[in-house]
Amino acid sequence: MNAIIKGVDICRQFPSGNKKIQVLNNVNVDFEEKTLTVLKGRSGSGKTTLMNILGTLDRPTSGRVFAFGEDITDLSEGKLDEIRKNNVSFVFQSVALMGTMSAYENVEFMLRIAKKPMDKERILHCLDLVGLSNRVYHMPYQLSGGEQQRVAIARAIVHRPKVIFADEPTAQLDSETSKVIMNMFHRIIEEEGVTVIMTTHDQNMMELADKVYTLDDGKIVSYVDNREGR
Ligand SMILES: Nc1ncnc2c1ncn2[C@@H]1O[C@H](COP(=O)(O)OP(=O)(O)OP(=O)(O)O)[C@@H](O)[C@H]1O
Ligand SMILES: [Mg+2]
Repeated sequence: MNAIIKGVDICRQFPSGNKKIQVLNNVNVDFEEKTLTVLKGRSGSGKTTLMNILGTLDRPTSGRVFAFGEDITDLSEGKLDEIRKNNVSFVFQSVALMGTMSAYENVEFMLRIAKKPMDKERILHCLDLVGLSNRVYHMPYQLSGGEQQRVAIARAIVHRPKVIFADEPTAQLDSETSKVIMNMFHRIIEEEGVTVIMTTHDQNMMELADKVYTLDDGKIVSYVDNREGR
């Protein structure tokens, strides 16, 4: 198995007054290249905390994080920044598109941030991948919620990251649109070779994932590999 990201015995505590609360408790997870894995669990179970640690935005209190073939747990902020810039991308629940930029310009903006050359063909290709070739010059206010989320996904892949972390990307969408987004992730995995790790509350999304980890109160309580029965 080819784990592109792996968490071993991850614990995370947060201070709470003069006590500490244990938010993640010996979590072991691994994510295979070119798969779609869902982290599921009720509100407060630790999904976002885990995702932030796996995505280099936070550090575990104890345990190890392996990514792209190295142990990144103790790397300096500078090194983590470098890894983040070249390898990972984030999609959030509330789509944060730039309101004064068109769909095209929002995607282009990511190339600017990643200091990659402006590449019109690549930008149009990414908008096409998410089914928006006929909305390229629309402004965010002219797009539906699902379309805005698709622009956010195009923006997240344009600079060719290896892993996309999506925290509840479908939470504000109806279930049909959520399915469209999940199928889009599969298409992007197939065509771009990325790995997708996403969180959701939505039970209907489970069967559309390759693997599902369930978190409860900071612990992994179940693991399902849907590909075994396919
Ligand atoms: N920076 C922090 N300081 C203190 N407690 C925190 C911090 N971040 C998260 N927590 C606590 O950790 C627990 C897990 O939070 P987390 O955001 O990971 O949950 P979640 O599973 O993503 O929930 P949701 O589905 O509501 O997004 C919560 O009880 C939260 O209060
Ligand atoms: Mg969360």
